Amino acid sequence: MGKNKTVWYCAECGHKQAKWAGQCPACSKWNTLQEEVEIDALPPRFAAQTCTSAAKPLRLKEINLTDTPRILTHMGECDRLIGGGIVPGSFTLVGGDPGIGKSTLLLQLSNALAKQGLLVLYVCGEESVQQTSLRAQRLGIDTDQLLLLCETNFTLIKNQIDQINPDILIVDSIQIIYKSELSSAPGSVSQVRETATEFMHLAKGKGMATFLIGHVTKTGEIAGPRVLEHLVDTVLYFEGDKQQHYRMIRVVKNRFGPTDEIAVFQMSHKGLTEVANPSEIFLEERRKEVIGSAIVPTLEGSRPILIEIQALVTDTVFSTPSRRSTGLDQNRLALLLAVLEKRMGYQLHKCDVFLSVAGGLKIIEPAIDLAIVVACASSLFNRVLDAETVVVGEIGLGGEIRTVSRIESRLKEAIHMGFKKCLIPKRNVKGISEEIRQKISINGVEFVEEAVSAALK
Ligand SMILES: Nc1ncnc2c1ncn2[C@@H]1O[C@H](COP(=O)(O)OP(=O)(O)OP(=O)(O)O)[C@@H](O)[C@H]1O
Ligand SMILES: [Mg+2]
Ligand SMILES: [Zn+2]
Repeated sequence: MGKNKTVWYCAECGHKQAKWAGQCPACSKWNTLQEEVEIDALPPRFAAQTCTSAAKPLRLKEINLTDTPRILTHMGECDRLIGGGIVPGSFTLVGGDPGIGKSTLLLQLSNALAKQGLLVLYVCGEESVQQTSLRAQRLGIDTDQLLLLCETNFTLIKNQIDQINPDILIVDSIQIIYKSELSSAPGSVSQVRETATEFMHLAKGKGMATFLIGHVTKTGEIAGPRVLEHLVDTVLYFEGDKQQHYRMIRVVKNRFGPTDEIAVFQMSHKGLTEVANPSEIFLEERRKEVIGSAIVPTLEGSRPILIEIQALVTDTVFSTPSRRSTGLDQNRLALLLAVLEKRMGYQLHKCDVFLSVAGGLKIIEPAIDLAIVVACASSLFNRVLDAETVVVGEIGLGGEIRTVSRIESRLKEAIHMGFKKCLIPKRNVKGISEEIRQKISINGVEFVEEAVSAALK
């Protein structure tokens, strides 16, 4: 064995160097380098011996795909989320804030799979077996096919996996698992990377679908190196306010299906239950004709959801006005306010602007631009929007309204929720079928000025 040496790892990108630095030279993030003791790599001769069989290249045609059916969880939203069921041997990372419901979801998932006769091994390193079975009792889970293992040492876990040969493995959480060969603490960059890599080899080698639970850092990223996200096939991310009962799970990465798909769940003492129509819950608490509120049909993944954007524009008492938003991109907001200032002549530099997406959802698509702008204008002039109108459109730097994708499915959702009018990009109007035109009155707009005066009553 080689001798120990101290190295510095970037927690963000996994970059390794011999000396500490304030900024990571690889990814330019500040204060991300962590000290770790590393045992020198094994001599090459030894490493070569452990490599047993060499892979052979295959022709694409020779690869047999028919015998890998997906495993349906029969939790409709979960199946849809991951692109039509679990792929055997797939490797999934589930991230989210503390206490948001990661263990709950995976325990329910385990139950759904175990009930189909699959053997599920749930490694609960963070909690005792008693704690986990208490939760299982609360969630109404009783199945013989679900095994709990309270262990954090990787080698011991691997021994159990080799003995039991489960179909599904759940690791709660990757930050607590350690390899005793490495001297750094569990949760450190090298431990997380090493153990996750080992789990990946196990998953791929055995065709055992594996789910890792991952903690998130204060800034909301999955703790441990970025490498972890590169390593896995699928990254699922919990979103939503813990104070509210709704939890959104977003697919951030997926090698077997579409990304940006979201599923909405409701948390209760019985666990997470699927919400079939998210538009309903996001509009549930809406008061009609409120100043500074606009409804927008967004497309998260493949499914349209109606959400309410709320704006509050007030005179500022400070020299630098504040711009705050929840659920929206801060830079995008700054840009839209600049467009309003330039094109419309609004004196927004004298105003504080607060924006929020009702319901705690995070929206990344720019199609909500028009709703943001209209909501701000509504609050600034104390004029309400028509309660039966939805607005959608992306805004360019010149104040032009750009087309949005899949306008018909957005409008169908609006019609379904009882809206009678819509304000959409002019270029989108052409592509709308007669059937939809009969159910909703369409107003196509080209520039911000036009849109704002059309929207406000
Ligand atoms: N008795 C209960 N009744 C209702 N809801 C409960 C009850 N116990 C727990 N919960 C809900 O479950 C959530 C905790 O879920 P869970 O333990 O799955 O989260 P987690 O993401 O695994 O957390 P951690 O990061 O701490 O492991 C709580 O926030 C709460 O909303
Ligand atoms: Mg947990
Ligand atoms: Zn880095």
